[in-house]
Amino acid sequence: MPLSREQSQIWDAMGIGPQWILRSAEDPLLPKKPAAQPARAPAPAARVQVPRQSPSVHPVPAARVSAPRQPEARSPAPAAIPGRVMPRSPAAAAQSSRFGDAAAAPIEIRVDPGIAAAVASAGWDELKGLADRCHACQMAESRTNTVLAAGKPGCPIVIVGEAPGRDEDLQGYPFVGKSGQLLDNILAAVSLQRGRDVAIINVLKCRPPFNRDPRPEEAQACRAFLMRQLELLEPKVLILMGRHAVNALLAESNIRSIEALREKHHECTLFGKTVPTVVTYHPSYLLRNPVAKEKSWHDLLLAKSLLAGGA
Ligand code: URA
Repeated sequence: MPLSREQSQIWDAMGIGPQWILRSAEDPLLPKKPAAQPARAPAPAARVQVPRQSPSVHPVPAARVSAPRQPEARSPAPAAIPGRVMPRSPAAAAQSSRFGDAAAAPIEIRVDPGIAAAVASAGWDELKGLADRCHACQMAESRTNTVLAAGKPGCPIVIVGEAPGRDEDLQGYPFVGKSGQLLDNILAAVSLQRGRDVAIINVLKCRPPFNRDPRPEEAQACRAFLMRQLELLEPKVLILMGRHAVNALLAESNIRSIEALREKHHECTLFGKTVPTVVTYHPSYLLRNPVAKEKSWHDLLLAKSLLAGGA
């Protein structure tokens, strides 16, 4: 069936093209079996109750945080102790193993208690300066810039990504490389705009060397920044892009794959408030698997309908 004019515009904006077009054999983005899927409205989302996290978020006072529980399969990563070198727990090693870096050297975390305390009560504009002073982990030695956020409190939707890449590290701004361009296209396809409707933050504020996956210890060390950002942003709807954002904010007992989690209405309890949450693919994944872009479009539509009070 031919696409409507509106569908063509949406698909075009997402870089899919007005119709599914077979890519040339040389195209590195060519999926194994490109399969056209008819556009459809988002399925009514199953409501998934996200378990609360034990109040162990450091350094935000426990009483104000009711974040998702850490995975059952591994005991919670130890909260970084200010001024102490944190040993790598077996749980962290197990999680790393899940991420394919079991052989990686242990990560040393040294949280400055002064910075940790300041983050817990910092204003939005103060967080960048505090991150610049943060040397809790070795990423501080290799970063060019810390990368805090696009947008600010008042943006109703908050997207949580993974970590800055090379372009973001150079510019000090999230999602400015290829995945950022794709993200902006996806947002435009559902009439959303970063900075206006959407704030974008990452689990990590510094670029992992060689763009490797974030390690659990690093996510834990950065968690105070993430949680303070969420506290200040007060999202009406949260979009978790990729497994690192999911690991940081949803209970692992739910995590089978992004495919299993997407297109559902999840809930994150943040600072005493239940925030409707949608899980979708990370834009970097979409660059490698362009046929999944349409699914991500459906996920964004779901987020918009949650914002409007639906689903
Ligand atoms: N990928 C992310 O997860 N975040 C960025 O800021 C850039 C790429």
